[in-house]
Amino acid sequence: MKVTVNRKAHFNAAHRLYRKDWSFEKNDAIFGLCNNPNFHGHNYELIASVTGDIDPETGYVIDVKILKDIIKSEVEDAFDHKNLNVEVPEFQDLNPTAENIAVVIYNKVKAKLDSKFQLEITLYETPRNFVTYSGE
Ligand code: NI
Repeated sequence: MKVTVNRKAHFNAAHRLYRKDWSFEKNDAIFGLCNNPNFHGHNYELIASVTGDIDPETGYVIDVKILKDIIKSEVEDAFDHKNLNVEVPEFQDLNPTAENIAVVIYNKVKAKLDSKFQLEITLYETPRNFVTYSGE
């Protein structure tokens, strides 16, 4: 019997979407306002979903405190109030799209979780735009 435990989190961060090897005109055509050279911010909403078996002794799949602490150290402390392009090493050569941010978050959180769990990351860049990644 598999049950999914979800934890919500939040961070604010700035980014610019562009490729260094493209001209400004090409970046502008592909990324539009997100290519603003002065960066812009988003209020990111994160849902980390951990699926596993219920432990018959505790009744837990995972103690949510463990998940909360992993998100704090791997996501909030690393990304909150940061310029992703400039201050976060993972995005030095990786365009910080919602897709790529979700993959980076997945990899960081997965590395800290017991390997018996499945993980899915849902990342909202705006209230209407969100991506999901579950490691495939
Ligand atoms: Ni943006």
